[in-house]
Formats: sequence, structure tokens, C-alpha cells
Amino acid sequence: SAAVKGGFATFMEKEIHDQPLAVADTLRGRADAEGRLKLDELRIDESVLRLINKIIVIACGTAAYAGHVAKYAIELWCRIPVEVELAHEFRYRDPIVDEKTLVVAISQSGETMDTIMAVRHAREQGAKVLAICNTHGSTIPREADAVLYTHAGPEVAVASTKAFLAQITACYLLGAYLAQLRGNMFGDEIRSLLDELGTMPDKVAEVIGSEEEIARVANDLADVPSVLFLGRHVAFPVAMEGALKLKELAYIHAEGFAAGELKHGPIALIDEGQIVVVIVPSPRGRNELHAKVVSNIQEVRARGAKTIVIAEDGDADVEPYADVIFRIPKTPTLLAPLVAVVPLQLFACHLAGAKGLDVDQPRNLAKSVTVE
Ligand code: G6P
Repeated sequence: SAAVKGGFATFMEKEIHDQPLAVADTLRGRADAEGRLKLDELRIDESVLRLINKIIVIACGTAAYAGHVAKYAIELWCRIPVEVELAHEFRYRDPIVDEKTLVVAISQSGETMDTIMAVRHAREQGAKVLAICNTHGSTIPREADAVLYTHAGPEVAVASTKAFLAQITACYLLGAYLAQLRGNMFGDEIRSLLDELGTMPDKVAEVIGSEEEIARVANDLADVPSVLFLGRHVAFPVAMEGALKLKELAYIHAEGFAAGELKHGPIALIDEGQIVVVIVPSPRGRNELHAKVVSNIQEVRARGAKTIVIAEDGDADVEPYADVIFRIPKTPTLLAPLVAVVPLQLFACHLAGAKGLDVDQPRNLAKSVTVE
């Protein structure tokens, strides 16, 4: 009924609109009066966390892309090497894991069998396992040494949206917590990061505010056979997630590429009319990356592509090369995935809607895959 969908036609739309709250609720109650991060649920001894020398994130699907974002943040803030691995690949390659490895298992449901089996394997090898999970009391948090819950609320639509934003938020909290604990970040830095994170729900809401414009563009593209997504740095996993959403919801062939890889192969795919979505990094952040991605837009445009560009407010450099621009608010580079993925979710959702598809229950997919 419309009531359980909060007045929206589909759970997918409701859950996209729930995202500001999912981020806010995941952030709530994580700092003490002095602005120090405290993660009470994290029952792994501080002395153990101080000694870990490697983190391996294991997950499947959208949750794995949250893990890729986590790698950029945790390595920069904590100087601990982070690997990200699909859970179903992990145990079959005899991974190098020991008591000094922290395995972070990310799962919305906590019941994905591939991830459960990877958690068991990691624990057998002596690693500590931390679950980032949205479902209280599910199997993965029960079997893990500790859990950091995301508070996205129940996610009903099969393809993940709000759980993804909550997972990324939890990964930032984990990274900042480890940096605080291990002395890589000091009080002021933690406080200003928490302040920045606190502004993210409003920024996510602002992007959702451009839904109508995104829907118009999506409606016009209902017949496209293929869409390519390009992103660099933290926007690389965002590009992959944008492509995954389009496959899942609209059954359109889509691929996400690291923008720097374009010249090493994918550019051969570009010809007249190919739709390319490009996520542009902030011009205020790592400036050299901004210029490189802008020139990627130019390169694909010159070969006939139609470009849909996700760019920060005020970034005029993209204007000459973009057929369409979706704006996102100014955001520090590492936190940008929280806003940059939202237009891609809306795009996939509305494109699928224009094709008359069931966005809540796409064909062949299950919300939680409980077989290996
Ligand atoms: C299924 C869902 C995906 C989800 C993946 C991981 O394939 O269709 O949307 O990302 O499982 O699920 P989890 O519950 O472990 O996050």
C-alpha cells in the first residue's frame, strides 16, 4: 500500500528519499561531550585495534562498493593498508590473514551466504571480524567479534540504496575511530570531520531535490542499449555502483570504469550516441584529478558520446563538454560519494520506471542471497 511506502509509488523511491535520515541516524550518538568518537558497540579490545596492520573488507554487490570507498578513507586517515575483496573470492584463494588482520564484513541483511562463509574462514585463520550491518541480530553480526550497526531502517526494495549510504557513513566512522585510537588524527581533526559529516544529510536532501530534472533526462533515454560510467578516486566505486543500479533496475548494459583506464581500452567502445555518465571530482580538492576527468569528458565527446556530467555547484569547467549536468553540493573529496551516487540512483530508478519495469523487485534478483 501507499502508506508503507510513505506516499511514494515504490519502495525504491521511498528508500532513496529516506537517505538523508539514514545518514543522520547512522551518525547519531557516536561522539562524546568532548567531540571524541566513541563506538560503544565495538567490542574489540583497543589494544588489539592498535596493533592491526592490515584491513580486508569483504562484501558482495553494492556493499562491496561501500568497501571500495572505505579503502580511500581508511588508508588516508589511518595509514593502514586496506584490501577490498568480493566475499565469494576471498576464501578460495587462501588469503593471508592472521591475528593482526581486521576483516570488515559489510552486509545490509547480515544473511548473505557468501559473506557468512568468508567471515567464518577469516575467524578460523585468527583474524578479528567486524561486521557493518543494517539488520540487528542477523547471522553476520552474531558470528563476528564486533559490530557497527548502520541505522538505515528496513530496506525493502531488492536493489540497495539507503543501506549503501549508511554503509559508507559507517566506514567513515570506523576510519576516523581507528585514526583517533592510533593517534593518526587529533581532536580538532576528528571534530571537523564529524562536523563535515553532520552536514551530509542536508546535502543528500539537496540532490534529491533535483529529482524532477533527473527524471526528465532518464525518461528520454528509455531506449538506450548501453551506458558507460566514468569516475576516478572515490568516484570510481560510485561509477561502478551507478552501472550496477542501471543493470539491476533497468536491465540496460552498463559498465563503470576508472576514468584513467579509458585510454587503455574502454575508449574503443565510444561511438556516435553512446551515453557516458562522468562523475567529476571537486575542483577544490585534488585539482590535478579534476582537470584530468574534465579532459576525459572532452575525449569521449569528441568521439560522438553524449555526456551526462555529475559536477559540483559552481564548477564551470565542465560546461563546454556536457550535454547534461546534474549538480551536487560542494563537499570534501572523500565524502563526495554520499552525494555523487544519488543522481545515479534516481537516474536508474526513473529510467526503469519509464520502461514500465518493477523497480522494487527486478527479475532474477533476491534481496538477500542465502545460498553460495
Ligand atoms: C543481493 C542484493 C544486492 C546486495 C547484495 C549484498 O545481491 O540484490 O542489492 O547489494 O545482495 O547484500 P547484503 O545484504 O550482504 O548487503
